[in-house]
This record gives sequence, structure tokens and C-alpha cells, in this order.
Amino acid sequence: MSRPGRNDPCWCGSERKYKKCHLLSDDAGTTAPPAPALSQRVATRPAPTKNAHLILDEAGRQGMRAAGRFNAELMDYIRPLVLPGVRTDELDRLVHEYTIDHGHIPATLGYHDFPKSCCTSVNEVVCHGIPDGQVLREGDAINVDLTTIVDGWFGDQSETILVGETTETLRNLVSETLECLHLGIAAIKPGGRIIDIGHAIARHAHAHQYSVVRDYQGHGIGRKFHQDPGVPHFPDHELGQFVVQPGMCFTIEPMINLGSHRTVLDKHDGWTVRTADGKISAQFEHTLLMTEDGPEILTLTQNGPQRGHRF
Ligand code: MF3
Ligand code: CO
Ligand code: CO
Repeated sequence: MSRPGRNDPCWCGSERKYKKCHLLSDDAGTTAPPAPALSQRVATRPAPTKNAHLILDEAGRQGMRAAGRFNAELMDYIRPLVLPGVRTDELDRLVHEYTIDHGHIPATLGYHDFPKSCCTSVNEVVCHGIPDGQVLREGDAINVDLTTIVDGWFGDQSETILVGETTETLRNLVSETLECLHLGIAAIKPGGRIIDIGHAIARHAHAHQYSVVRDYQGHGIGRKFHQDPGVPHFPDHELGQFVVQPGMCFTIEPMINLGSHRTVLDKHDGWTVRTADGKISAQFEHTLLMTEDGPEILTLTQNGPQRGHRF
């Protein structure tokens, strides 16, 4: 196509002179319309990713993997030492020394003034039991909750361990609580919502006539012990809307009760949480990394109970 002269009518039919119309854009080699106004461009830009600060890059993911791995090794070390006749503060000392000897930091020690390096929650204690002079006896169920800081990254997990011979009722509670944890893990996909976890856990617990503790929940984790998102173990329609994206780390840690879900906080120590009715509570916890392919369990042990294990 031959170009009009500068003062000729423009080829586009605008009835303006060529120099006032398409001359410049023809020179630039394009007839594309001018860029839209800034407000239009902003409106069509993808919305910034929500909670971007919670999404770990590859280095962060490796940091969390290392923390989870060490925490799981600590659990493998302590599990066979949970025996009748052992005091819970003896277990705490062993946890503390193993952690320090490997150059790491016990996260609970001094956390909001918590006085020990792990939590030991026996029988009707739901969580946050303080290791003390209590002697473990045959038939007890003790949850050992370990959290360590490895190069600034937190690993957090717990297991309920049965001391010697126990009842079938208790063994079933512990087996189904482990199953609740793994059903919660299986229910959450990249782009899924936190409520998917609570639905899966509550459905299974209720099918077995157990109750789900509502007063305490799982949590986001990373360079901080507790951060967003909150992870309720029942279908909470508010917190449950949070969308889990690849690169996020969080715990799932269902507390499942033989009786009522209600809890009571110890007035004297300010930490120990017990069931309101004094019936037994069990718990398992893992730290997870959501990857592009699904959740990765960071605190899986070599020797501990795997999914489907029956106690
Ligand atoms: N490890 C617990 C959790 O799973 C928290 C213990 S905090 C403490 O979140 F202060 F009680 F130790
Ligand atoms: Co936790
Ligand atoms: Co924990």
C-alpha cells in the first residue's frame, strides 16, 4: 500500500490529514491502537497472589524439609524410650539433649514462657501437657509433641504412644486418630481449601462415635512456630475458606476424644488442656509442604506408625 502525502486525507477514512492521524503509527511499523489508559491496564492485570509471603521458594522448601527430617529423627530416637516407669520429665531431658547435641533448638522451651523442650500429654490431657515427675504406667496413652528449630525453620509433629498393654477401646481410638490425620492430608490439594481437611477428619471421627476438639487447631509454620493459616479439624466455614497454594507449609494435628469435644485449661499452670469429661483424648501431627503435585509430609519417620497402622 502506498502512503498518502502528509497533508492528504488519511487512508483510514477519518477525514483527518494523514500527518494528524496514522503517520506516526505507520512509521513505527504498527497500526495497533494506542496503549489503553493506565486505569484500564490495571483492571486487566491478574490480581496479586494472596498470602504471597507464605509461599516458599526452593531454598525455603529445602529449609523446611531439613527441619522436618531432623524432627522425625528425634521422634524415632524418643519413641522406644517411652516405657512403663519412665517420668515425663526424663523424656523431656532426653529430647532436650538430643536436640542440642545435634546443634538445633527446642522450640517450645521459653515459647510464651512454656518451661520445657516438648509437650507430654497423658490420657485425658488433650495437648500442651508439661513434662514433670509423672511416672508412666502400663495402660497409659501419652502424646509426645516435638518441635525443633533447624537453621531458623520449624518442624512440628506428635504421636500418641501406648505404654505397655492397653484396652481395645484405647487401641481403636489411637488407630482411628492416626487415620483421621492421614484422611485430612489426603483431602487437601493445591488450590483446595482448608475446610476440606476438617470435613474429612470430622466425617471419619463421627462415624466412629468420637468427637473432634474444636478449641485447638493446626497452623501454618515456617520461620515462625505458628502463623496463617489456622487449620481447624472440623468444617469451620470462616477459616476454612483459606486457599492452600503450592509452597505453603502447615500442620494437621487432630485431637480426637472418646467422649465430649469440650476442653478445660488448667488454672494453675495455664498450659495443660484436659477433656472436660475426663475421658481419653488422642492426637497425631505432621508438618506438611503443599507442592504442585499435592501435600508432602515433611515429618515422616522411618520407624514410626505409617498410614493404616493399627495399634
Ligand atoms: N507443638 C504444639 C503444636 O503442635 C505447640 C506447643 S506450644 C507449647 O502447635 F508452648 F505448648 F509448647
Ligand atoms: Co503444631
Ligand atoms: Co506440635
